[in-house]
Amino acid sequence: MDTMLLSLRGIYKWVNTGINRTFLLKDINLDIGEGEFVSVMGPSGSGKSTLLNVIGMLDDFDEGAYHFMGDAVQGLREKQRAALYKQYIGFVFQAYHLIDELTVYENIETPLLYKGIKTPERKAMVADMLDRFNIVGKKDLFPTQLSGGQQQLVGIARALIGGPKLLLADEPTGNLNSKQGEEIMELFQQLNRDGVTIIQVTHSEKNAEYGSRIIHLLDAHVEKK
Ligand SMILES: Nc1ncnc2c1ncn2[C@@H]1O[C@H](COP(=O)(O)OP(=O)(O)O)[C@@H](O)[C@H]1O
Ligand SMILES: [Mg+2]
Repeated sequence: MDTMLLSLRGIYKWVNTGINRTFLLKDINLDIGEGEFVSVMGPSGSGKSTLLNVIGMLDDFDEGAYHFMGDAVQGLREKQRAALYKQYIGFVFQAYHLIDELTVYENIETPLLYKGIKTPERKAMVADMLDRFNIVGKKDLFPTQLSGGQQQLVGIARALIGGPKLLLADEPTGNLNSKQGEEIMELFQQLNRDGVTIIQVTHSEKNAEYGSRIIHLLDAHVEKK
């Protein structure tokens, strides 16, 4: 494998309800190398989003070891974890999760504000991204004035603007028609060729095949094929 980006060892996540314990993740062992494009598949409720959220450090886990670029994530303080996330990870959601009160421009700019990047540099970076995604003409519109495909492009631009090493996408084409979905997959393929590691959750075999490896989840664990 290429250089290791992250590894999960014996990861468990659960919720206790009364005397019952429900496992959301069960003994997950996973290595992802830099430059991989991995697809996660599995039935609804099998733990795909939970796994992605754990990898993306948006969710905690209860047991096991998670190493990201050499750092033991379980040993990090909240602040250090947030710093890792900001520096290295971009997240794309099925429902876009754009901020409706902000324009396209402002949505894309948001991560740079959190990173404390100065105005002139910020402007140049956002302009670059608008240009690259062919949405310069949409920059002053609000998310609700865009089609689903355009909203997802904005979501992806926002995820990429910080120059992440790892792009996580949870059913990114789930709300799109097949043509829009294909465009997103081609974009991911290009990003991956440019060196971005990608982990996507998808229900579509066709989309999964854009990646180089498929991980099947079933009942909170990785299914052995
Ligand atoms: N915070 C939570 N509390 C209780 N159950 C949860 C919680 N989060 C997720 N679940 C349950 O865990 C299972 C896995 O959820 P999820 O990761 O969203 O699955 P998927 O993305 O594969 O559809 C589902 O049955 C879901 O209802
Ligand atoms: Mg899900």
